[in-house]
Order: sequence, then C-alpha cells, then structure tokens
Amino acid sequence: MEKLNLAIFISGRGSNMQALIGACMTPDFPARVAVVISNNPEAQGLNIAAAQEIPVATVNHKDYANKAEFENALQQVLSEYHIDLICLAGFMRLLSSEFIADWPNKIINIHPSLLPAYKGLDTHERVLADGASESGCSVHFVTSGMDEGPVILQKKVPVFPDDTVQMLTTRILEQEHIIYPLAVRFIAEGRIRTIDGKSEIQ
Ligand code: GRF
Repeated sequence: MEKLNLAIFISGRGSNMQALIGACMTPDFPARVAVVISNNPEAQGLNIAAAQEIPVATVNHKDYANKAEFENALQQVLSEYHIDLICLAGFMRLLSSEFIADWPNKIINIHPSLLPAYKGLDTHERVLADGASESGCSVHFVTSGMDEGPVILQKKVPVFPDDTVQMLTTRILEQEHIIYPLAVRFIAEGRIRTIDGKSEIQ
C-alpha cells in the first residue's frame, strides 16, 4: 500500500512531531513525513527534524503582507511535497476557513484536553484552577471553529490534588505521543469515518 504523505506544521518544541517521525520510521507504518513546516524560524523542532534528514521549510507569517499570502506560501510547499494529510503539532497560527476548506478532513490537530472541554490555550492551568479530577488529550479533525472538529481519539489521565502545571503537562504529553501516531495510522488505513460531524473508528 502507498504510504500517506504527511506535512507536520510546528511552531516550537516539536515533541509531537518527533513522535510522528519516530512512528513513521517503523517499516510497517502506513505514513511518511514528507516535510516539516514551521511559521517560526526559531522553532526547536526544525533542527530536530533536519538532524534526521527530514525536509524542513520555514514559512514565516511575518514575511507576508496578510494571511492569504502566508497561506499561499504554505500551499506551495504542500503541493511541492504532494501532501495527503496535514498534522498540526503545536502550530500557533489559526488557519483561515478558506485554507481549511481546501483540505476537507485532511488536517488534524492534537490538543491537550478532553475536547470539547478546555478549548484554546493554557488548558492545564484552567483544569487545575477548576480542581478537575481528570484531563487528557484529543486528536481531532480541524474545522473552522478553533479546537471544534470531530474528535478521532482521546486519552484520559487523572489529575491529582497537588499536581503542578508541569506535572500535568508531562503526564498528558506522554499520552499525546501515543495517540497522535495512532490516529495517523487509523486515517492511513482508512478506518476513520466522519458522519454528521462525528468521527468513528471502524
Ligand atoms: C502540545 O501540548 C499539543 O497538544 C499542543 O501544543 C503542544 C505542542 O508541543 N497543541 P510539542 O511542540 O509537540 O512538544
């Protein structure tokens, strides 16, 4: 079977990117990382990917007059690498609805909460402030509402009364690195069906 060609969009550290690269290095994994794209030229993940001979591209939003031009530049890189699926992995720019409409069910994201709870930024801080007893992470399809698309996979973790943000971050990140490659595998194997805004695994 032909492998799915992935583009990974990052803005920083790139630990989820690394989890995807690692999974793609196992011979039977049904996807390959064709390119890593960062809007931030300083993203640590760029060096990590380049050191493993993964093609990298910087498309700095600050170099473009507006979002449409920035996204045109992204589209050019995507077509150059014949991308099938875009994986957002700590990508800190919101994509326009026009861009998203060009990639229906072909953009996925990892978010550090049990969506639909705690959309947006600073999830762990808010979970701890609320005294919640559990949190987790979600992989979802990207639609034009932020962190709103159909959930593909989730993993719950407990939250303990004396947890710090760092402790919760570490506990959840460990699960992110497991479910993100798994979601990509399920998509590549054609096992995800999305009907009426809900995804299910077959
Ligand atoms: C992760 O917590 C992810 O869920 C969120 O941004 C963070 C990215 O971390 N979307 P990394 O760059 O993958 O290490």
